This record gives sequence, structure tokens and C-alpha cells, in this order.
Amino acid sequence: MKILDQIADQAQDMPGQGAQGTERRGTILYARLLEKIEILRSALRWAPRLDRPGIEKLLHQANALRDEVMQLSHKERFVSAAAGDAAEGAGMQRAPRSSGERRRALLGRSFVFEGTFGDNPQLLDALEVAEKAAPTDLPVLIDGESGTGKELMAKVIHANGARADMPYVSVNCGAIPDNLLESELFGHKKGAFTGAANDRKGKFESAHRGTIFLDEIGELPLSGQAKLLRVLESHEIQRVGSDELITIDARIVAATNRDLKRFAAEGRFREDLFYRLSVIRVTLPPLRERKDEIPLLISYFSGEAAETLKRRPVLITPRLRDFLLNYAYPGNIRELRNIVYRLSCLAGETADLEHLPQDIRPRPASSAADGTGSAGLQGMASLSEARRMASDQAERAFLERGLKEVGGTVAELARRCDMNRSHLQMLLKKHGIHAKDFRRI
Ligand SMILES: Nc1ncnc2c1ncn2[C@@H]1O[C@H](COP(=O)(O)OP(=O)(O)OP(=O)(O)O)[C@@H](O)[C@H]1O
Ligand SMILES: [Mg+2]
Repeated sequence: MKILDQIADQAQDMPGQGAQGTERRGTILYARLLEKIEILRSALRWAPRLDRPGIEKLLHQANALRDEVMQLSHKERFVSAAAGDAAEGAGMQRAPRSSGERRRALLGRSFVFEGTFGDNPQLLDALEVAEKAAPTDLPVLIDGESGTGKELMAKVIHANGARADMPYVSVNCGAIPDNLLESELFGHKKGAFTGAANDRKGKFESAHRGTIFLDEIGELPLSGQAKLLRVLESHEIQRVGSDELITIDARIVAATNRDLKRFAAEGRFREDLFYRLSVIRVTLPPLRERKDEIPLLISYFSGEAAETLKRRPVLITPRLRDFLLNYAYPGNIRELRNIVYRLSCLAGETADLEHLPQDIRPRPASSAADGTGSAGLQGMASLSEARRMASDQAERAFLERGLKEVGGTVAELARRCDMNRSHLQMLLKKHGIHAKDFRRI
């Protein structure tokens, strides 16, 4: 435990950030401590003069300590600290604050947010973490299902930090072919490979002094992960075909809809990279877990759509509203946004169930018959049939959206969804979906 004590001492000795205050200094010390633990773990793995049982023992201790710090980092440093800011400032004991108060406090602190948010506690947790993390240079990992607002959150972190006026460069790690990855991230020298007609800057160089957003980080192949780790450790890059080392100062924000911890356990994602990227973790809840925000989002998007389409905001019938408040939204906020835009475009003054996309529309019999719009009990034989239908609809919507995203390439969709290709083909056949209809021309 001695080594760990020394490392903790070193972290304590690190210079603070002047006017930024004790809390931020604490944040940075914690993060440095985490970094030191990572270095310790790597060093121990390869130490030539420690016997194996000794190494294992220390590794075990380091792992336990790291997990403890990660836990603390999320709960204590950010969430409870934010909730207790005001009370502590006044020298009072911390009292739990209501969501409404937390929301108002966030807005009162001039938090920049390009969207809307309500009182949902899970979302407020995420926003408060983002707010606290923004002014630091610590890496942030944003996770959450597809369409939950990860990219928006990355921009929020950039916009609320000291680098807001500097470049924000976004890289979709899942969309770069393996053989171009290095050149795309780090640039290349003229003649480095066939087709390299000129010197070219990579994304990291473009993001110098700003923020680089590494989207879909879980899709980065292992070779790319090793290269990224090297940059995170050395803050230097080399263009492909060049010996020159270029120093890079870029704040890293990464996002994923994968379970990277599971990926790490399965050997598909480097554990050391995971811990380096996730010094701060922001988890965005799916829309089905923040249904209370749906009315707010509907009104936000119908205002936005009205402006785009140069029309008055669309009115919504009670049964359509009922549907929108209860639908499961497998595509989360993006899906809700698309639906509202569709309604705004297709309906006249008032939108109803018939303006919904066909694959999610409740059966017409139900909407006409019960008049409540509660998704058609009369049209269905049983609860199990209702379940099967909902599951079929979600499956179909998922496949169509996926194919759209990958431009109709079944192999790519199978890779992204971690699915067997022939099983995927079978599902497409079941729904009568033709991949070629989604090819980009
Ligand atoms: N709180 C919000 N207020 C308004 N719009 C939002 C909010 N959150 C997300 N959006 C919108 O929802 C859409 C999806 O968000 P975004 O692209 O950030 O999601 P994502 O998690 O990155 O999705 P994916 O995993 O598919 O890449 C965007 O149009 C975004 O502007
Ligand atoms: Mg995204």
C-alpha cells in the first residue's frame, strides 16, 4: 500500500488552479490520482523484479481503489456537490433540493444548453456533471442509447468551458475505414501512401487548443485504440509518413452507445483506454425513463419545426397526445423530434394519429372506436398480441433506421449491432425490408 500512499501524496502536492476554487482543485486532484493509478497498473504489469503473487496483490488493491474513486467521482464530487453548493456557501448543512430548484439553479448559473430540459432528476444529474466538468480539461465519456443527445451534450461541454471560442472537431470513429483511420486522426505527409498528393492535417491537429469529440468510440478497432492511447499519454502525434512529433493540446470528449466495460471484459475495448477516457462519465437516460420531459420536448420541437417550415405550430388532438406520451421511443429524442417534424409537415392545423409514421401508428379501428386514442384495445385479441405487435414495430423501426445509417450495407449493420449476419438477413426478410432501398446514390 506504500506505493499507493506515495502516489496519493504526489497527487495532493500538485499545483491548484488559482481562482477556480477548492472544489475544482479537488476534481483535478482526483483525476490525477486516477491517472497515477492507471500508470501504476501498467507499470506493475511489466515490472521485472516483483514476483507474480506480489504483482497480483498490488494490482488487486489498485483496482479496488480505482473503482472506489470512480464511484466517488460520480456521486460525491459532482452530483451531491452541485446539490449542496448553495447551502455550503452559506455555511449551512446540505439539504436535498427539489428538481425544480436544481433546474432553476442551473439556468441561473448561465449554463449554456442548445435544447431544452425539464425537472427530470436523472437528466439533471447528467447536466450538473457536465456543468462541473466543462471548465476542466478532463476527458469525458458520454454514454446513452442512440438518440439520447450525446452529441448535443458534447457540444454543451465545449460551449461551457474555457475552450468555447476554440475549434470543436467531431470525428465519427465508426465511419472511418480502418486503413484511413490513422491519416484521418493524425494527418499525413505528401507521398506517405498512394493517393496522398499533399500534406494533410488530421483531426487532432485541427482540434489543437479546442475540443475533439470522438463519437462512437466503441467502434474504434483495437489498432486505433492503441494509437489513441499513445496520444492521450504523450499529447503528441505524428502524421503518417513523418518523423516529426507535433504537440497537441486537445480536450477529449468521447461518446458511445455501447457498454464499454463489457467490451473491455470481452477484450474488444482496451481497459486502460476506457479508464483514461472515462475520468468523468455522463450517462444520458433513455426517453422512456424521462417521460415527464415529453410534453416539453413536443412543444420545443413543434416550435422549432414551425420556424423551419414557416408555419404556425401544429395543434395535437388529445388521442395523439396520449399516444405520444406513452410511446416507447426506441430511437429516443431523435425519434420524437422526427415524429414532431413529420406531424408539422403533413398535418394541416391539427395533427392526429393518421399523421404518424405507419410503422408506429395504432390500428385505425382502435382510434375510431374508443375515442380515447389509447392504442386500441378493441383491435387486439390479447395482451400478448399487443406485446408482439409492439415488439415487431420496434424491430422493424430499428432495422430501417440502422440500414439508413449504414447506407444499406447489411454486413456493416451486423457489425454495429453485434449480430450474426444471417440472422440479420432473416429478420430483414421477415419484415420484407430490402437493404438496397437504403443504399446511398
Ligand atoms: N434536451 C434536448 N433538447 C432538444 N433537442 C435535443 C435534446 N437532446 C437531444 N436533442 C436532439 O435530438 C437529436 C438526437 O441527439 P444527438 O444526435 O445528440 O443524439 P446521440 O445520442 O448522439 O445519437 P446517436 O447515438 O444516434 O448518435 C438531435 O437532433 C438533438 O438536437
Ligand atoms: Mg451521435
